[in-house]
Amino acid sequence: MKVLFVDGTIIGSKTGAVLEQVRTYIKDTGCGYELELVSLSDYTHQFVDGRPIEQYNEDMQKLSRKFEEADGYIIATPIFQGSIPGVLKNAFDMLHPHTMRYKPVSIVANGGTYQHHLVVENQLKPILDYFRCLVTPNYVYTHSGHFDENNRITDDEIHKRLKEMASVFVKYAEMSKDLSRDAIDEN
Ligand SMILES: Cc1cc2nc3c(=O)[nH]c(=O)nc-3n(C[C@H](O)[C@H](O)[C@H](O)COP(=O)(O)O)c2cc1C
Repeated sequence: MKVLFVDGTIIGSKTGAVLEQVRTYIKDTGCGYELELVSLSDYTHQFVDGRPIEQYNEDMQKLSRKFEEADGYIIATPIFQGSIPGVLKNAFDMLHPHTMRYKPVSIVANGGTYQHHLVVENQLKPILDYFRCLVTPNYVYTHSGHFDENNRITDDEIHKRLKEMASVFVKYAEMSKDLSRDAIDEN
């Protein structure tokens, strides 16, 4: 089972810090999964315009392959203008609609303030629902007040929620192994 940890931004560091913490908690479950980090800041992006994947640059093709090859995802997003960053939406736009089908996904999001936590419910989850992902009911929203000056998470409740999310993610990942390929091919 290969899990892709997607840092969905090209600037800022708190989403990456939360993602690392989730990685640790998933590792701590003893699941033995392969845990790979992908940061969108390491890629040269092109706007998705519907052309075949072979016609994009190497980075876009590489990113697409990483999503294809993964069996599950942790998506980390900052909040930009009351939504997700364009670069993350652009990456989703690039994927074939079957790419993440029936694969487990957990979400972590970070905003400058608490006010935008429902962006996950209202904007990110519908995209993942379109992809027919197995989105865990747990997600974790953090804001600046949950971190110290070195971007370490200082809030105990956030740690508790991240641990719980990691454990539920592993249960969803195990469940996804039993989903028949036939169910996917039929749709
Ligand atoms: C272009 C831009 C728009 C932003 N819009 C919002 C917003 O609408 N709501 C919010 O809570 N935070 C907003 N922020 C703050 C980011 O969510 C925050 O910078 C991000 O989570 C990463 O934190 P870090 O830069 O301290 O690592 C915005 C930041 C940028 C750069």
